This record gives sequence, C-alpha cells and structure tokens, in this order.
Amino acid sequence: MSHADPLDVDEDLLKARTPKPDFYLDPLWHRRVVERVFARTWHWLADAESVAPAAFARPVTLAPGSLSEPLVLVRDEHDHLRALSNVCTHRGALVCEAPGHVKRLRCPYHGRRFDLGGHCTAMPEFEEVEGFPSPVDHLARVALAERGPLLFASLAPEHEFDAWFGVLAARLAHLPIARARYDASRSRDFEVEAHWALYCENYLEGFHIPFVHPALAKAVDYASYRTELHPYGSLQIGEALGEDPAIVPPEGAPDEGRRIAGYYALLFPATMLNVYPWGLSLNAVQPLSPTRTRVRFRSYVWDPELLGQGAGGDLARVEFEDEHVVRSVQTALAARLRPRGRYSPTRETGVHHFHRLLARFLTDARA
Ligand code: FES
Ligand SMILES: [Fe+2]
Repeated sequence: MSHADPLDVDEDLLKARTPKPDFYLDPLWHRRVVERVFARTWHWLADAESVAPAAFARPVTLAPGSLSEPLVLVRDEHDHLRALSNVCTHRGALVCEAPGHVKRLRCPYHGRRFDLGGHCTAMPEFEEVEGFPSPVDHLARVALAERGPLLFASLAPEHEFDAWFGVLAARLAHLPIARARYDASRSRDFEVEAHWALYCENYLEGFHIPFVHPALAKAVDYASYRTELHPYGSLQIGEALGEDPAIVPPEGAPDEGRRIAGYYALLFPATMLNVYPWGLSLNAVQPLSPTRTRVRFRSYVWDPELLGQGAGGDLARVEFEDEHVVRSVQTALAARLRPRGRYSPTRETGVHHFHRLLARFLTDARA
C-alpha cells in the first residue's frame, strides 16, 4: 500500500490510526469501493417470498445506486430458484421487465428466448449464424443463497457464502427464522446525508450507546456488551438488562446461559442483520455517492407479541439518534484541524476490523 493510501490502517489496533479523510471525500475511492469491494462481496437482494410461486420471474436490481446490476430471479417448475443476469445476450435489452408467471423468458426487443435456467434456446433470423447458440449466449448466472426469508447474491464472490453467514447462522439455528414473515409496515427505504462507511462504523461499536442512546442503554448491559470478529465481519452481542424479553439460547448453543437483548451482525461490507426476541431486522446499506447513502430497512417478524419491547423496541428512535451523530462526523470530515483518530482496544475492535477488511479488498490486485 502506498504511503499516500488513506486506508493505511495498522493491523495492530494499539498502534493504528483511523483512515485519512480522503477515503471518504474523494470520488475515486467511492468508485473503487464499488468495483473492488461491492462487486466481490455478498449483498441482500430481495425477500424469498417475492418469488414464491413456481414458474415465476421477477426483475430485481442488486445494490441499486452502487452496483445497480440488473438481475432476474427465476423459480422454475421444479422450484429451483436462480438469479440470472437480466441483460439480453443479443444487444443488451432487459429481458424481464415485470414480475409474473412464465414458462420461459423472451427478450421483448428481438425475441431471443431463454429457458428458466437461462439457456438461450432460440432466436428469430439467426438460423445461419455459426455456432449459435453457444454458452456465451446464455444469461449469466449469479451466486445466490437463501436463508429463511432472505435472499443474498454476489456478482463475483471472493469467498463462499457460508464463510460470510455461517457465524450468524449458528446463532440463528435455534430461532424460528423459517417462520419469520416480512412486515412491510415496519420496513422502509431512507437516505442519510453521509458516507456509507461512516454509517457502518457507527453501527460497529456499542461504545456510543450510553452517550447517544439513553433509552437503549437501559435495555442493554454495557458491561458485558462484546464484539466478536469474524473473517468477513463482526458480531456484537448485547445482553438484556432487567425483565425485558430476551433470546435465551438453549443448552449447547453459543451464548447458552445468557439472556440476549440483541445480536448485531455486520456482514462485510454493508449488510447489517439484527436479531431480537421478536425477529430480524436488516439494513442494506447502499453507497449512492461520497456524501449520500441509501438504507433499505426490512423487518421480519416471528413473534409479534414481543414487538415494541427491549433493545429491539423503539428502533426509529435509535435510528434517529444514530443519524444525528453520523451526520455530525460527515459535516466535519473536511475540517483542516481534524487529526486521524485512534481506536479503543475494548470497544472499537469491530471498527478497526472493518477498516482492515476495506483496505484488504481495495488493495487486492485481483480487483
Ligand atoms: S436485445 Fe434481446 S433479442 Fe435483441
Ligand atoms: Fe447507535
């Protein structure tokens, strides 16, 4: 990494300094993040139930605003779910423009046909074209994974899905994730006037809870709050204070014997998954520009009676409080008198790990 690299964050947290402001301010780094980080990692794509019936296709966009990759989710007659490129291999029109039942896909521009596995099967006026159709005429397949109500995808994954999701999956194993239902009334998209990484950094530490979230601080035990680091992200574990409902892991499960108010997982780079006694919430964080971020917030409920209680109770208030501090950091990013920060060894391991992962992906020559 060159001396001028804004992400020259020392691997030793005790010596490290936080990234230089250039990382957040320079549009060049924004573009590099999209191509070298987002194109090679996993992202939330859609809700599994949005393509529930067999022989069904739905156009979706992977990471709209950053990757903005047009895909089509297809469930075939045998209930196999696939994510395919939605870009026609002839001259690039969108193959599927609206969700619906289908027996095959047919490009609306010149009629090229594909089966529900994405294979090009026929094309008018192409009888004399040599070697047609060949594999390059098929729609590209994109890596897809389904877990409970969630679908995740990756364009060119640098690692296996389970290396990314496995640690959280172990925590979810005893919870009724398959029963979790998408709740539109508790879901929304919103935009934050800040760099996406600032939004993530704030999420990655519970350090600010006593200062920024006075109500949440009464539900989560700060003394036992901890962060685990994983190869592709980190998991924060907040134990419950008082009598509020809690997740009580059974014998043999990770965290057995504890009362968990919330799990907070950041799946690198930008998927936040929170687990509460009532269900899951997901924040898909999407960089739009160096100063603008879209957050797609989704709720999946398995126990509606527990909504509104404990650490997962007033999420709108917590979000408002977080956005206030994130915008404060954004406002001061370009300050001439802003030094590079240091990390707390007890409270900011997740932030340091996030910066190290960013540096690794951004400097990897394969990108
Ligand atoms: S662009 Fe699809 S058939 Fe021509
Ligand atoms: Fe917060």
